[in-house]
Amino acid sequence: MQGVAVHDLARTALESVKVEEQHMSKLRVQSFGVSIDGYGAGPNQDLEHPLGTTGPELMEWFFPTRLWREMHGHHDGENGVDNGFAEQGFANIGAWILGRNMFGPVRGPWLDESWKGWWGDEPPYHVPVFVLTHHARAPLEMKGGTTFHFVTDGIHAALERAKAAASGRDVRLGGGVATVREYLLAGLVDELHLAVRPLLLGAGEHLWRDLDMRALGYECEKRVEGERATHVFLRRRTG
Ligand SMILES: NC(=O)c1ccc[n+]([C@@H]2O[C@H](COP(=O)([O-])OP(=O)(O)OC[C@H]3O[C@@H](n4cnc5c(N)ncnc54)[C@H](OP(=O)(O)O)[C@@H]3O)[C@@H](O)[C@H]2O)c1
Repeated sequence: MQGVAVHDLARTALESVKVEEQHMSKLRVQSFGVSIDGYGAGPNQDLEHPLGTTGPELMEWFFPTRLWREMHGHHDGENGVDNGFAEQGFANIGAWILGRNMFGPVRGPWLDESWKGWWGDEPPYHVPVFVLTHHARAPLEMKGGTTFHFVTDGIHAALERAKAAASGRDVRLGGGVATVREYLLAGLVDELHLAVRPLLLGAGEHLWRDLDMRALGYECEKRVEGERATHVFLRRRTG
């Protein structure tokens, strides 16, 4: 009898530690490329243009980094400020959340299970990834620890599941633009790292349209000049 009570106590204590860990875990947007006119993706995304036609210009700060080059099997990447922030984006991340368009160009109901993301057999996540969609699909287990889970019951459910899967580590909100906007509007993003590129995109998916970030409680914390982008850190004001 006493044994059962001790066991129950231990379980309750463990559960409260887990709840506390989940509470401390942050929702972070990292390395999000944005033009100075506020676009986070180019227009007309399709199979040949994952970031939209002009979108790669937003990520030209990332492509020369050591992190990106090593992800693609090369050992000649740059190890500067941009690389440091790119690497920081993967540190202490226990789960990701993506929108369905970041996962792929397929729209509407899944016709079959053939689309498995842009990233090949071994995606660069290596943790559970929760993909928001209106179209249910079975979880997809990939090589290297990435499993894509398709979440059809909204942003709060996705965050809850991601935090549980992250076991105290942070959750990275990968994008795309619509998904980041939804979480910002709901005041759920704790930290937002933007890699601001010195260019005008003119068209595409706009990050800030009709969003009053100040009223939503965000402030600029710091700015650091990198080789090909200015790194701007926003966070939610506390108190
Ligand atoms: N600048 C960067 O650093 C960066 C980073 C990541 C991605 N991107 C780019 O951003 C673009 C994609 O952004 P996007 O704004 O087009 O789309 P997105 O945010 O990736 O996905 C939007 C879609 O996700 C699903 N979804 C979102 N919220 C949902 C909810 N609450 N409930 C159910 N489903 C929900 C819906 O798909 P369905 O209704 O079809 O299911 C919706 O149309 C891509 O070009 C990508 O490459 C840029």
